Amino acid sequence: MDFNLSEEHLAVQAAARDFAQTELLAGVIERDTVQYFDPALLRKMAELGLLGMMVAPEYGGGGMDTLAYVLAMEEISKIDASAGVIMSVNNSLVCWGLEKYGTEDQKQRYLTRLASGEIIGAFCLSEPEAGSDATSQHTTAFPNGDHYLLNGTKNWITNGGTSSVCLVIAQTHPELRHKGINVLIVEKGWEGFSVGKKEDKMGIRASDTNSLMFLDVKVPAGNRIGEDGFGFKFAMNVLNGGRIGIAAQALGIAEGAFELSLKYSKERKTFGKPIAEHQAIQFKLSEMATKIEAARLLVYRAARLKDEGKDYVQAAAMAKLYASEIAMWVTTEAVQVHGGYGYVKEYHVERLMRDAKITQIYEGTSEIQKLVIARELLK
Ligand code: CAA
Repeated sequence: MDFNLSEEHLAVQAAARDFAQTELLAGVIERDTVQYFDPALLRKMAELGLLGMMVAPEYGGGGMDTLAYVLAMEEISKIDASAGVIMSVNNSLVCWGLEKYGTEDQKQRYLTRLASGEIIGAFCLSEPEAGSDATSQHTTAFPNGDHYLLNGTKNWITNGGTSSVCLVIAQTHPELRHKGINVLIVEKGWEGFSVGKKEDKMGIRASDTNSLMFLDVKVPAGNRIGEDGFGFKFAMNVLNGGRIGIAAQALGIAEGAFELSLKYSKERKTFGKPIAEHQAIQFKLSEMATKIEAARLLVYRAARLKDEGKDYVQAAAMAKLYASEIAMWVTTEAVQVHGGYGYVKEYHVERLMRDAKITQIYEGTSEIQKLVIARELLK
């Protein structure tokens, strides 16, 4: 597989790197502390085209491929993984799903504004009792004339507070189990839709994660995406692509921690020489670099397969599994390389370690990725 990056890929990578260095780096510790992502920064990300990268230009997007998106995700997440997840959910779960499966009317009403970053979207699958076991949806959407009546609670929703539009997965025909599930486009502000508490998280703290409550929310029938009962397939299909985005986020987090460790190890002296000259540190750096390179190959491969229209379910799961596992390992080692300095906020690596943890959990835990891989192997 050829990973030779085109001029366009390199330009996207450079623009994202520049934005991360000049705009995201300065306030990243403060944003993590106060758990707030400045809307002005989000507007700049929108202006740069980071929120609808793969959407066709006719719908307000950048018309780029998955590899370009991955390269940008990597650069943004090296510096600010919170910005990474805001971007990832909007791009790969919300915009991609709407563009692929939405009607022309739905695209005109929602996709154009989501892709340009005028509004932000959220993807609502998880519930208090349906995380990994995603077919067990308790949220219901029962038909009632020309609309659905939506009732239930969603948990751990990325962009839960800041989003204007939510793709909500809900059960319509319980007797059909996962084949009775639908996905509805729901607007904030509709009667009966309330935003619950914002979670006080370990990592990606600048991004908002909320529970969302629906009490007899009237959703027009025209806001259902796809055929009746398509909702679970929709969720699985968007998550297959979403996992490539999260894998790129994990890769970026690992790279960020590695770059900081490399720099620090050349500057910090112990026993009369830079710690980079001690074999104990060299072994750590070598292993970090090797794992990162292996993860990069898996992530780029999954993106390429998707761009080539080939089956990428297993490749995406492998990329997400491996990149998130090594992100956790690399960031933990990065804290160790930094010693006492690694344990304080100023040196960034403790934040990256906290941020890495979620990549093993959301958009399918590592255990779910192994399940997906095994099912593909045993097909
Ligand atoms: N791609 C496409 N279809 C898939 C699929 C995949 N990866 N995995 C399962 N399916 C399909 C199956 O083919 C089956 O369809 P048919 O009945 O038509 O054959 C259907 O889905 C049900 O699958 P199973 O019978 O295998 O159901 P299961 O309950 O045994 O397993 C699961 C399903 C794979 C475990 C699924 O529930 C799952 O992926 N769980 C993890 C959910 C998840 O990733 N949540 C993330 C939350 S979103 C998030 O984190 C976003 C954020 O804010 C950052």
